[in-house]
Amino acid sequence: STTTLKTSDHLRHVESMSTLPSGAGPISRLNAVILGESLASEEDHLVFPSEAFSMQAHVPSPQKYLETYARSIEDPAGFWSEMASGFFWKERWGPQVYAENLDIRKGKINIEWFKGGITNLCYNCLDRIIESGDGDKIAIFWEGNEPGFDGTLTYKQLLARVCQLANWLKDVGVRKGDAVVIYLPMLMELPISMLACSRIGAVHSVVFAGFSAESLAQRIMDCKPKVVITCNAVRRGSKIIYLKDIVDAALAESARNGNPLDVCLTYENESAMKRESTKWQEGRDIWWQDVVPKHPTTCAVEWVDAEDPLFLLYTSGSTGKPKGVLHTTGGYMVYTATTFKYAFDYKPSDVYWCTADCGWITGHSYVTYGPLLNGATAVVFEGAPNYPDAGRCWDIVDKFKVSIFYTAPTLVRSLMREGDQYVTRYSRKSLRVLGSVGEPINPSAWRWYFNVVGESRCPISDTWWQTETGGFMITPLPGAWPQKPGSATFPFFGVQPVIVDEKGAEIEGECSGYLCVKSSWPSAFRTLYGDHERYEATYFSAFPGYYFTGDGCTRDKDGYYWLTGRVDDVINVSGHRIGTAEVESALVSHPQCAEAAVVGVEHEVKGQGIYAFVTLVESVLYSEDLRRSLILTVRNQIGAFAAPDKIHWAPGLPKTRSGKIMRRILRKIASRQLDELGDTSTLADPSVVDELIKLVDC
Ligand code: PRX
Repeated sequence: STTTLKTSDHLRHVESMSTLPSGAGPISRLNAVILGESLASEEDHLVFPSEAFSMQAHVPSPQKYLETYARSIEDPAGFWSEMASGFFWKERWGPQVYAENLDIRKGKINIEWFKGGITNLCYNCLDRIIESGDGDKIAIFWEGNEPGFDGTLTYKQLLARVCQLANWLKDVGVRKGDAVVIYLPMLMELPISMLACSRIGAVHSVVFAGFSAESLAQRIMDCKPKVVITCNAVRRGSKIIYLKDIVDAALAESARNGNPLDVCLTYENESAMKRESTKWQEGRDIWWQDVVPKHPTTCAVEWVDAEDPLFLLYTSGSTGKPKGVLHTTGGYMVYTATTFKYAFDYKPSDVYWCTADCGWITGHSYVTYGPLLNGATAVVFEGAPNYPDAGRCWDIVDKFKVSIFYTAPTLVRSLMREGDQYVTRYSRKSLRVLGSVGEPINPSAWRWYFNVVGESRCPISDTWWQTETGGFMITPLPGAWPQKPGSATFPFFGVQPVIVDEKGAEIEGECSGYLCVKSSWPSAFRTLYGDHERYEATYFSAFPGYYFTGDGCTRDKDGYYWLTGRVDDVINVSGHRIGTAEVESALVSHPQCAEAAVVGVEHEVKGQGIYAFVTLVESVLYSEDLRRSLILTVRNQIGAFAAPDKIHWAPGLPKTRSGKIMRRILRKIASRQLDELGDTSTLADPSVVDELIKLVDC
């Protein structure tokens, strides 16, 4: 095992850095480095934690990190057993803590953690905290869309609400292993629904409430839930979104395809819409308020195996069909709780706010499960972060005395554009740790976040991870290391990232390549629902022996990791993951669209924007109406967040002689790097490129 350490490049680098005294360098030195100066290279910018911060941190120094990391790699079974022992297990796991095969050449890909261990996630999130004496602690501060509209739930109150719903679910026949689709905005009822499912061993599948009826129908038809949980409408900013209409359309579509659904539980969100105005299907639709509160506030726990499924979450890949990422119970529990604690340096006195929606993995692991497993107080926010104005986030921070604030770079950039006055108007003195997730954070946004929002005192945890990984993989541990703006720094305990070249050979030292992981970690996804072959083909075949993340990555001379974005056909728009193939298939479903090719293009606020090249059917003419109609088609089929930013009319697309679209060329045209098109001679018809360039600004 010492060889693992010796050959681990990352450790060699960090060991050489570990001579730095912890908390070296006063903050003033930082500011001198990071304010306004343009230094030769980003990798030379070091931002040191203050000594005061490091001294109180769970991981106070590079040395401590290195020791713990080394132990987690040398003895994963021992390390993770120790982490798991803080939770309640009805029966302890079997003699083998984990089993894994990540090498497709050796047979079926298989990952198991704590198998044979019997537990329940909801019990660990709620009952266990209450039994420890924290039942009256606030679990959720809820903040509505309209300022002044709010609510709270203590751990005891939350448990009572969860049990009522769990009892109702059992009443309507939901059993262990059954799927439940949740299509809700950020009401308290969303985490309540997730927890109620996990209490009874049902498998939840939350669908982000910005997805269209068609996307929702696709997910319903794939996982065939017993029940769909939704609400009639929601206010977001100044808009009202009629969610029940979307669910009705999705259920009609699903029924047409032979998957009728018997029960649709609908929460009456009175502040957005009264029940009288809601369309209703007698026999199928049930008002939450009419049935759930009548159920008992206690509900026996369904004890499940650590490897029993916990949830399904659909995510985008490089084909049109979304993938149902499956997470199981025990490993997910241990890993999300541990990463939450260390990556945010969580302490019981913290108030934590993650702005993500529970419709995405961030909301699963770090709005609902990770914080509750730590007995934390978390803010759940229904509204839009710029409503009624760009100061709303800091208003909420001051209101609840938020100490850990976790958001996406796209929000940081959009608030940065609005000006510092929206931030400095509020005190923010409660803040002590900031977090970032969803896409690489560009150094200038990092600095603004650090200097203006955090007043140069709050370390930033730039957490790199994925729906598939379940929890943080590469992340700073606040107080442990000097940070570099824009780098996610080092792997979390137990994670062994490697960078490989096109041939799949590991590259050592300072390098760039494809980011892979060479051993399993407890919250790794176990399969794609109903399609283990696709799981193996997508993630384990490109570079045999490794889990391939789909991301490019650079490791610098000090061993810091810098994520450089997706290397597959996935684009990341405002931290939302969208497959180019999904947008293309929506576009070509338009009767006047013959062919479409979609690429990502740099976007100042969203990180990446969606740029679509569209070829029309013979004799149809371009028009503004047609452009709008194409965009509307994508909104209707996927959701508003996937609407193309730009439609580029394309009389033809650059294709090789075998008919493959050369996206490399399209990316250059989209980003207007017209003198860098490279070799176009292998194209079947090189003149299409000139035609495309002529139409650049049409
Ligand atoms: O490209 C990476 C990017 O988001 C992808 C995962 O998307 P999703 O499964 O939707 O999960 C988002 C929330 C975890 C990754 O493959 N990504 C996520 N976090 C970061 C990031 N890229 C750079 N830095 C990050 N901190």
